[in-house]
Amino acid sequence: MMVEGFPGVTVVDHPLVQHKLTIMRDAETSTRGFRQLLREIAALICYEATRDLPLETVEIRTPLTTMQAPKIAGKKLVFASILRAGNGLLEGMLDLVPSARVAHVGIYRDPETLQAVEYYFKAPDDLSERTVIAVDPMLATANSAVAAVERLKSRGARDLRFVCLLAAPEGIRHFRSVHPDVPVFTAAIDSHLNDHGYIVPGLGDAGDRMYGTK
Ligand code: PRP
Ligand code: URA
Repeated sequence: MMVEGFPGVTVVDHPLVQHKLTIMRDAETSTRGFRQLLREIAALICYEATRDLPLETVEIRTPLTTMQAPKIAGKKLVFASILRAGNGLLEGMLDLVPSARVAHVGIYRDPETLQAVEYYFKAPDDLSERTVIAVDPMLATANSAVAAVERLKSRGARDLRFVCLLAAPEGIRHFRSVHPDVPVFTAAIDSHLNDHGYIVPGLGDAGDRMYGTK
């Protein structure tokens, strides 16, 4: 669903996504449950984010005859996981597209300044020839996503999408003002950011909830 006031943003409003997201938001949900649900939701959002991938026709032989059949055109997709929490989405996306290539972008958000700090980067060499889907559950100030996409672009990526679970209106506006060419897919757009840059009502710190580090 496209949302008025947020061009380039698709909210995946499928009932299964919304149901699972509600359980993830619940503070009582266990680490194990949170991780499992993130993986399940990721596959469903990935389904929407890949809906318009171009197809080509190839000839195959079924047990009965030959036929012209559709296949995704071009090189394998790249999923770019923004560490740490991106890995939770990555797993579910790989369930759906097991042959995708994977880039890792290590970025954390400085808790005082909320600026993105990069500590690791590893990606396939030929990003310019592939569709690259950057993944991170949370788009809060968008400082992390903006920096990650800048880095992927500097390494040649031109056809990019961004997949998250929750987005703040402030983050979407920031992200789309810097990267208007990159469509965003999310399960929900929440109310606002609090003074510490957390999404409200949100679900807390995605990395901590997924890995049980707090
Ligand atoms: C979280 C989240 C995003 C970032 C979002 O990561 O996974 O990467 O914050 O916030 P922003 O939009 O304001 O940049 P965090 O910095 O907590 O690192 P972690 O995933 O390693 O826990
Ligand atoms: N990062 C998170 O994990 N949660 C937020 O609400 C904001 C940034």
